[in-house]
Amino acid sequence: MDINEIGATAFVISCMRAMEKDQEHKLFDDPYAAWFVNEAIEEKVQELIRVFPPSVELVRFRVRVMSEVVERGIEDGVKQIVSLGAGFDMRAHIYQTEGVRFCDVDQPAVVEFKNKVLETHGVTPCPGIECNYLEVDLPGKLAEAGFDLEAPILFIWEGNTMYLPLDLIHDFLSRLRARIPRLAIAFDYYSEKIINRTSGDERITEITDMFESNFGVKWVTGFDDLSVFQEKHGLEAIESESLMEFGERHAPQSVAAVKEYMGQAADLLKLYSYCVLKAS
Ligand SMILES: C[S@@+](CC[C@H](N)C(=O)[O-])C[C@H]1O[C@@H](n2cnc3c(N)ncnc32)[C@H](O)[C@@H]1O
Repeated sequence: MDINEIGATAFVISCMRAMEKDQEHKLFDDPYAAWFVNEAIEEKVQELIRVFPPSVELVRFRVRVMSEVVERGIEDGVKQIVSLGAGFDMRAHIYQTEGVRFCDVDQPAVVEFKNKVLETHGVTPCPGIECNYLEVDLPGKLAEAGFDLEAPILFIWEGNTMYLPLDLIHDFLSRLRARIPRLAIAFDYYSEKIINRTSGDERITEITDMFESNFGVKWVTGFDDLSVFQEKHGLEAIESESLMEFGERHAPQSVAAVKEYMGQAADLLKLYSYCVLKAS
C-alpha cells in the first residue's frame, strides 16, 4: 500500500527532527529520526526551509512541547500513552519506562513502513494499531491491545488536527470520551485565522499556501476558543500556550532569529498553539 499525502507529512517532520542534532541549542534528542528520511524528502524540506526558514522552529517547538507533556505525564504516574497519527514519533522508545504501556496509531501503510525500518535497524517496534482512527472503534481496539479504559490514558495527537474536518474531530472525541473516563489529550492547533487566511499578514497567507501546495495537503481546521471542548465533551483545557510563548521561554535565541527574519509575520508563532485537554 502506498503512503498517501497526509502520511507523507510524517517524513517531513522526521526530517526536521533529524536536523536537531546540528542545532547549537538543542531542544530534544531523537536518535531515530534520520532513519525515516530519504533524499527526495530532504530536498523538499530544504526547499521549504529556503523559502521559509522558521518552519523548522515551528516543528522544533512543537516536538519539545509534546515531549514535555509525555515526560510530565510519566512523572505524574500515567501508565498508558497513545500516539495518535504517530507517524515516525519514537517517544515510545525514547521514554520507555518500566510499567508504562505505549501504543502508536496510524494508517496501515505508515505503521508497516515504520516497523520495517525499525526491524532493519534491529529495533523492536512499539505495538501499533493500524487503522484510520476516525473510522474504527479505537477504544475497543485499545482494549484488545491490553489497555485499561478505566485507568488514565494520555493521547498525544501531534500534527493532526489541522488536517481533519471539524465535525470528524468532534465525533472522534465524543467516542473517546464515552469509553475513556480518565482521558487526557494533547494536540497542536492553528488559529482559525491561519485556516481562513485572515491573519491580516500577507506573508503568513503565502506561507500557508506554499506549505499546502508543496506537500499536497490542506489545513482545514483551527481553533480560537478551547471552551468548545468543555461544552461539547466535558474536556477542560488544563494547559494551553502559543508556540511563541513557549519558544520565548525555551529558545529565546530562536524566537529572536524568527522575528528578525520575518518581522511582523513572526506572529505566525502566536497563531500556532498547543493544549492539553483533560476529562473533567
Ligand atoms: C503530520 S504527520 C505527524 C506525525 C507525528 N505525530 C509527528 O508529529 O511527527 C500526521 C500523521 O497522522 C496520520 N494520520 C492522520 N490522520 C489519520 C487518521 N485518520 N488515521 C490514522 N492516521 C492518521 C498520518 O498518516 C501521518 O502519519
